[in-house]
Amino acid sequence: MQIVKSRRLKPPSNDIVSGYQLQDMANRTDNSIRCTSSKKPNDGMTLIIATFAGLVIGFLLGTSFPTSSLTKMNFPSKILPSVYVQDEKPEISPTISPPQESNLSDAAFFKIWVPSNPRGAEMLPPSFVAAESDFYLRRLWGLPKDDLPEVKPKYLVAFTVAYEHRANIDACVKKFSDNFTIVLFHYDGRTSEYDEFEWSKRAIHVSVPKQTKWWYAKRFLHPDIIAPYEYIFIWDEDLGVENFDAEEYIKVVKKHGLEISQPAVESRKKITWQITKRIPGVEVHKEVKERPGRCNDPHLPPCAGFIEIMAPVFSRDSWRCVWHMIQNDLVHGWGLDFALRKCVEPAHEKIGVVDSQWIIHQSIPSLTGQGTEQGGKTAFQGVRERCKREWSMFQKRMSRSEQKYLKEIATATSNSTLG
Ligand SMILES: *[C@@H]1O[C@H](CO)[C@@H](O)[C@H](O)[C@H]1NC(C)=O
Ligand SMILES: *[C@@H]1O[C@H](CO)[C@@H](O)[C@H](O)[C@H]1NC(C)=O
Ligand SMILES: *[C@@H]1O[C@H](CO)[C@@H](O)[C@H](O)[C@H]1NC(C)=O
Repeated sequence: MQIVKSRRLKPPSNDIVSGYQLQDMANRTDNSIRCTSSKKPNDGMTLIIATFAGLVIGFLLGTSFPTSSLTKMNFPSKILPSVYVQDEKPEISPTISPPQESNLSDAAFFKIWVPSNPRGAEMLPPSFVAAESDFYLRRLWGLPKDDLPEVKPKYLVAFTVAYEHRANIDACVKKFSDNFTIVLFHYDGRTSEYDEFEWSKRAIHVSVPKQTKWWYAKRFLHPDIIAPYEYIFIWDEDLGVENFDAEEYIKVVKKHGLEISQPAVESRKKITWQITKRIPGVEVHKEVKERPGRCNDPHLPPCAGFIEIMAPVFSRDSWRCVWHMIQNDLVHGWGLDFALRKCVEPAHEKIGVVDSQWIIHQSIPSLTGQGTEQGGKTAFQGVRERCKREWSMFQKRMSRSEQKYLKEIATATSNSTLG
């Protein structure tokens, strides 16, 4: 394989100087891994910078000579590092011929505008647009196509954690196979301490002090970012997993067509919602009898179409909807559980509780102890109060938005029937 050194990129014209300036800028701003150092000749960054320089030149050429065709606006092949050319499959360069009767000096003909591209990316060629991402770790060397294992993780589990509960986190993580990408959200700011665990090296660590699970989920688990993962576990840190195996869990969930689910719970304390309680000898249950007066409709929460937010598991599609439902300012997620049913249809069949793989709720105080004493209230009381307030805010927002939408629909319908 030919190795390209930055000094081999001979400038074909004065324009290339701007490319070198760009490279200098990259050198200066990149103080973590100095990829562009000429002592490490096969670094990827050099190639990227060179490509970028090519793009800039191409763009300059394009803007100064609007009549030049697309093919002429492509990277001047002289400045493309040969290693780059080798790695990519050689493509027959497209010769675009304008329609016969068209005006040759019509620059608009050569402009890319694809309305079906993601919003804001309409000017890019569609097959180049990278609209989705992943949490796969890559190397700094070698060929990108060889970075990842043949079987890529296809599930994701995210725990929101404090270091004092590391023993339990370690036990939890060990119940998730290599088919899982592990994400830890650290609300106590302690991350490097996890190096003692072998699995920590392949985990994604996100550290922001005193934030909640749903705050993190909204910011770091966007459906486009975690697009390759079929199932997403967004779990608390205080769960006992002796009777739980994640691979087995997914088998059950697939078998029963559950889009939103949770493992059944055994708890030393009283269980708030009956549906989460484990029914021994059953694989899955989707509805229960609640206390009198709690359910107007046996197909509605909390009797069916309902799980708690302590250990939810979402399919890729349901998460795309649920993510959009999470409000940026309502960080505790109270009320979300009652609204999950709006994301799947029919909810009483696609939301359920897995009894054959179950967890123990240990109720160790965690994030609720992380508030601040204020106005004569303990930190715990302060957080608790906000949780409840958020619940009613969430419900109000949802019902107002639904009414607004239905009203608009009704108006539009009556207008069209009048017209
Ligand atoms: C081509 O377009 C230019 C600018 O839009 C215009 O001035 C010129 O008359 C056009 N020529 C023909 C043959 O249509
Ligand atoms: C991971 O997934 C593959 C493919 O579905 C499966 O064959 C393998 O058994 C899984 N690994 C574990 C540890 O279950
Ligand atoms: C319906 O008609 C009313 C009155 O003409 C108008 O103000 C309103 O904008 C129309 N709504 C829609 C959705 O077209």
